Amino acid sequence: MKFHVLTLFPEMVNNGLHTSITGRAMEKELISLNTVNIRDFAGNKHGKVDDYPYGGGAGMVMQAEPIYQAHKMLENQAGHPLRTVYLTPQGKTFNQDMAKELAKEEELVFLCGHYEGVDERVLEEIVTDHVSIGDYVLTGGELPAMVMIDTISRLVEGVLNNENSAEFESFHDSLLEYPQYSRPEIWREKAVPPVLLSGHHANVEKWRREQSVLRTARWRPDLLEKADLTKKEKEMLKGEDKNV
Ligand code: ADE
Repeated sequence: MKFHVLTLFPEMVNNGLHTSITGRAMEKELISLNTVNIRDFAGNKHGKVDDYPYGGGAGMVMQAEPIYQAHKMLENQAGHPLRTVYLTPQGKTFNQDMAKELAKEEELVFLCGHYEGVDERVLEEIVTDHVSIGDYVLTGGELPAMVMIDTISRLVEGVLNNENSAEFESFHDSLLEYPQYSRPEIWREKAVPPVLLSGHHANVEKWRREQSVLRTARWRPDLLEKADLTKKEKEMLKGEDKNV
């Protein structure tokens, strides 16, 4: 999977993603990251890429042409149009399903805005997806792009050590993940749930599924609508105090 990021702060994106699991995935060439500095396409010796908004108002607007040229270079290199995500609080909210869908692409472009916004005309020309990472306003699109790249990368085969692990975690089947425990068996008088020490695989699986369902009901009841619960599980939840 190839990620391209159009940004005014390439070092921020590089520093963030060249660490940890995404960093290792790049070393293994399972993913690649190409940051493109929009300022390199300024077309003037000052590297100026923003200007005042027509109609007045606070702040500056990123101009269309440098972004257009940077994007055109990427499409020329690819030899075909590229799916292009613009990070904006006005977009569709990012979630695991969207990550799965985007992970099917071989190449993705992320456009990170700054200042008060980006000239609408270039967005109309190049953007295929407007995406928000949540209902709050950040100073730029870099962190959202990094969030998306991290999430999508771990769905690329081979990126996670355990090939199965993305399948068993939060949001799979619209359920939250069950709680995890490691050594010691007793920590500050708190014992590990005995079933996990029993060695009885079927009972462990049953307990984990139950915990996932209970957690989701308590903390993210909105997710349950999409979850595929058995009759028994629905019965179990009827007797639950959701405010626990
Ligand atoms: N840019 C600023 N805030 C954002 C958000 N919440 N999601 C995506 N891009 C943004």
